[in-house]
Amino acid sequence: MGISIGLVGLGSFGSSFADLFMAHPLTGRVALCDREADRVAAFANKESWKRSGKFKPSDAYATLDDICKADLDALVIITQHWLHAPQCVQAMEAGKHVYCAVPLLSVPDADEILDWCDRAVRTTERTGRHFMYGETTFYRPEAMYCRRRAAEGAFGRFVYSEGEYFHAFDLPTSDLRKVWAHRMGSTIGKEFLARRADYGRRGIRGGPMHYPTHSTGGPISVTGAHAVKVSCRGFGPASRDEYFAVTQDAFSNETALFTMSDGSTMRICEYREIGFRGRETFRIYGTEGSFEDNVWHDKKSATELSVPEMRDKLPAEVEAAFRAARPEHDVYGGHGGSHAYLVHEFVDAIAHDRRPACDVYQGVRYMAAGAVAHKSALRDGEILDVPDWGDGR
Ligand SMILES: NC(=O)c1ccc[n+]([C@@H]2O[C@H](COP(=O)([O-])OP(=O)(O)OC[C@H]3O[C@@H](n4cnc5c(N)ncnc54)[C@H](O)[C@@H]3O)[C@@H](O)[C@H]2O)c1
Repeated sequence: MGISIGLVGLGSFGSSFADLFMAHPLTGRVALCDREADRVAAFANKESWKRSGKFKPSDAYATLDDICKADLDALVIITQHWLHAPQCVQAMEAGKHVYCAVPLLSVPDADEILDWCDRAVRTTERTGRHFMYGETTFYRPEAMYCRRRAAEGAFGRFVYSEGEYFHAFDLPTSDLRKVWAHRMGSTIGKEFLARRADYGRRGIRGGPMHYPTHSTGGPISVTGAHAVKVSCRGFGPASRDEYFAVTQDAFSNETALFTMSDGSTMRICEYREIGFRGRETFRIYGTEGSFEDNVWHDKKSATELSVPEMRDKLPAEVEAAFRAARPEHDVYGGHGGSHAYLVHEFVDAIAHDRRPACDVYQGVRYMAAGAVAHKSALRDGEILDVPDWGDGR
């Protein structure tokens, strides 16, 4: 019969997952939810959705409050970045398993982020619901390959890792000024503007490390270590572009050096003002083996790897269903082909009542590292302790 799932947030990003959730062989019922009625209608009126037998018009909802009352197993929350953690906590309190889009929460106040990390872990533990952190980096081919090598012990002891997310505010292929205007332009977005102005009045200013999970996620997911201490430096903004007046961030770029729980060192860059085509990557060095730029190195050789060699295998029936649902797209979807894996992992975990691979403990580790790094940058690089909630095992 399959599990029942509700998709909350059908904007630019959430809409790229909807057909995959609907097509997965283990979903039996899919509900839709967005405050913008046209975003729900875009799927509700699709022929493939009408034919699927998985969607009925009474399963179209306008608010999270309403869909939380429905008898669904799980909610997939892909709303704006200041809403994820509170909405996931609300959904778990209502008895739903949750998929949380990244970041866990991004607001200007680092302590508020850390508080919501704590609440997300505690609510997951208390309610016994499954929480999946939808980190696209976790399912990039490089990360899948490195986790397999790490499980074999091929790196030896981890020595050093680095992760970076370069996304200039004026990147022609993904202009952050337009992304920001879009997210603030909806009904929910406009509601946030007053709250945002309040942070400004209180002198609380964030930075790019408040959206750190694409850069921290690679090293942390591969090494299994977590950040213990951090010193971070801020830069800029050098540009007088309106973007920085709107975000009110203290810095446009932040560079952090972490001591990790396994004794290794991790360097993370989150840059929004850089003359560089976008880049999201990580490199990991161990005493016996290392990985950089799709090449595995050991003391004797360097082996270049293709994307299919690095990827894990998806079950054949899942891959076939995804291909049939979106014949005009690459079957693995966007962000390094991570979308198909994210959808499969969440649906499969809920259907088999198991903890998703990228769980709440992973999510808070990616997030807390950045939040404390930003606090350090505000204090001129002071070395600060990074909290940890364990791995739940
Ligand atoms: N690589 C990645 O992992 C990646 C990439 C892009 C975006 N994202 C994340 O995905 C999230 C969504 O991005 P987007 O561009 O789709 O945003 P968006 O503004 O286009 O869509 C968000 C949608 O959520 C809806 N919504 C919010 N709260 C609601 C509520 N209580 N009830 C009903 N509907 C509600 C809004 O109406 C809106 O349509 C962002 O937080 C972003 O951080 C992650």
